[in-house]
Amino acid sequence: MSMRSVLRDSATAPVPTASAAGTSPRPAAIGIDVEDLDIYYGDVHAVRGVTLAIPAQSVTAVIGPSGCGKSTFLRSLNRMHEVARGARVEGTVRVDGRDLYAPGVDPVLVRREIGMVFQRPNPFPTMSIRDNVLAGVRLNGGRLKKDEAEAIVERSLRGANLWDEVKDRLNRPGAGLSGGQQQRLCIARAIAVEPQVLLMDEPCSALDPISTSAIEDLIGQLKDSYTIVIVTHNMQQAARVSDETAFFNLAGVGEPGQLVESGPTTKIFSNPDNPSTEAYITGRFG
Ligand SMILES: Nc1ncnc2c1ncn2[C@@H]1O[C@H](COP(=O)(O)OP(=O)(O)O)[C@@H](O)[C@H]1O
Ligand SMILES: [Mg+2]
Repeated sequence: MSMRSVLRDSATAPVPTASAAGTSPRPAAIGIDVEDLDIYYGDVHAVRGVTLAIPAQSVTAVIGPSGCGKSTFLRSLNRMHEVARGARVEGTVRVDGRDLYAPGVDPVLVRREIGMVFQRPNPFPTMSIRDNVLAGVRLNGGRLKKDEAEAIVERSLRGANLWDEVKDRLNRPGAGLSGGQQQRLCIARAIAVEPQVLLMDEPCSALDPISTSAIEDLIGQLKDSYTIVIVTHNMQQAARVSDETAFFNLAGVGEPGQLVESGPTTKIFSNPDNPSTEAYITGRFG
């Protein structure tokens, strides 16, 4: 079974190729439908009853106070959650209409199709910049010809706005880059496999303002091709980069996190329905 057939019907959707630098036509990115999702760590009920439609080719920000389950929720969208001990979910996550948790769906393939970028940039430190970009592609089992590999490296680094800064040192280790460059390298690695969805968990929280601004610009460009879900604790960032915002909160100490409300970012930030949303956004708690 090919990687893409996990989420996409190959009879109706052409498989994009990674052969042409920057020019390969892509099918429209796919949206995510979450229905009545409960997420557990053993006996700990971390997230309760989330129903949320995440539109394709847009940026959805997930905001809320620490511990309300933002990271847990994000990891449930590419089956990373179940890596934790005793972890399980109840409910439905549909990606492009397909149930991510249906029997027979291979979580390893799902994780390759739905890319993730973490809080701390995590390039392979001793691996060259070029090999970092290709790491995911090689994991997928592709034996690449040299010119194919070079095309993927250039396309991905251009896509991550890093090409001009590193094109003359592709053989140098990833660890030699600044934090902001490392994070863009991780984004290049994530997009090298042409995922449909990019999940980002506080991708700028370890970065300085200039690198943060570079990543935010990049997110704005990437949404033309990808469905992006970003967890951020920075309200200005959520307002700047996202089209939709989902506000999570804890009903009480020891209670699971819940989705309080979601909608267009302009509405959530200017005229939310729930008083706790407004209190959080204006900095009165969290
Ligand atoms: N590996 C884990 N095992 C048990 N509980 C966890 C684990 N990871 C997170 N939790 C719990 O799940 C809840 C949500 O955590 P998390 O998703 O990290 O919140 P956020 O990202 O919003 O800060 C918290 O109560 C946290 O303690
Ligand atoms: Mg978190």
